[in-house]
Amino acid sequence: MNAIEILGLEKIYNAGFWRKRSKRALRPLTLAVDDGEIFGFLGPNGAGKTTTLKILMGLVFPTAGTARILGMELDDPRMKAQIGFLPEQPYFYDHLTARELLKYYGQLSGVDPKQLSRKVDAALEQVKLSNSANLQLRKFSKGMLQRAGIAQAILHDPKVVFLDEPMSGLDPMGRREVRNLIEDLKANGKTVFFSTHILSDAEALCDRVAIINQGELRGIGAVPELTASVHGKVEIVWQGAAVPTGIRSMGAQCHSAGDTTRLILPEENQDTALEALRRERLRLISVVPVRTSLEDYFVAQLGTAAKSEVVSSELVTDGHNRLSKQ
Ligand SMILES: Nc1ncnc2c1ncn2[C@@H]1O[C@H](COP(=O)(O)OP(=O)(O)OP(=O)(O)O)[C@@H](O)[C@H]1O
Ligand SMILES: [Mg+2]
Repeated sequence: MNAIEILGLEKIYNAGFWRKRSKRALRPLTLAVDDGEIFGFLGPNGAGKTTTLKILMGLVFPTAGTARILGMELDDPRMKAQIGFLPEQPYFYDHLTARELLKYYGQLSGVDPKQLSRKVDAALEQVKLSNSANLQLRKFSKGMLQRAGIAQAILHDPKVVFLDEPMSGLDPMGRREVRNLIEDLKANGKTVFFSTHILSDAEALCDRVAIINQGELRGIGAVPELTASVHGKVEIVWQGAAVPTGIRSMGAQCHSAGDTTRLILPEENQDTALEALRRERLRLISVVPVRTSLEDYFVAQLGTAAKSEVVSSELVTDGHNRLSKQ
């Protein structure tokens, strides 16, 4: 069964002082997410990810199209009781402790008062915050806050969990903790739909991903299926710092370090490059196929402009969405 069906969703925002400037955030977007899947929703800044999530949550209305969650319409209260949501930049009252915050959200989402304490403890345990349950949120690190946000999204044991940029601003350990949490949710039979810029996390976690750009779907499928469509590359390493002219004219980038030179080039140029090395009597060390990553697919789909807006495996965003090298 489809946990989520998005059917021709369109969104035009009317912006500007007189609301005369219109911004098309989603051009008919159609996709479906299976029950029990971890589904990654990827795209550069401004692609329409948060807009899609807000429409699914009923926080903004679509200009056209519709969507169903668990087979129910977006305004159906029975459906709302079965979903959880972590917004992109959640704001929590920071004088509350984690336990008080969860009790507050539990009451809002209609958790049975008799079960509230038990559910709060279970959620804190699941996100590994039991030891900080009575600490005020203003003393929490960014990673702990994000986990508190996820605890609030799963407290009422929803079937489908929506997370908008759950790894944003986290260090590698924090990202791993959130990844583990998402995997636990799947193991407990939940469907998880999350947006991210961090492609390596999506690659490690997702059963399927969708890539959107400027409100349009640009690719959808399992990561190996998507990456198979990208032309492969090979890495050639040889001894010495000399680079044959035949290789230079291919426009490939070489990197010499110590007594070896390393070259990465498209598979179809491999024979020509090896021939050039042989002619110059350079000693070949290795020829290894380079695994095509989701980032390669992303760049192939969206072009290099978009690449600067997503985060590769060595880059993360800090709390202010600035990119920084790890
Ligand atoms: N309330 C609004 N009024 C006007 N335009 C908006 C509004 N919200 C979003 N937009 C525009 O709609 C487009 C999609 O925005 P959205 O926030 O959905 O993108 P996103 O994929 O979540 O981006 P990011 O990765 O930066 O979070 C952007 O061009 C944005 O400027
Ligand atoms: Mg967003």
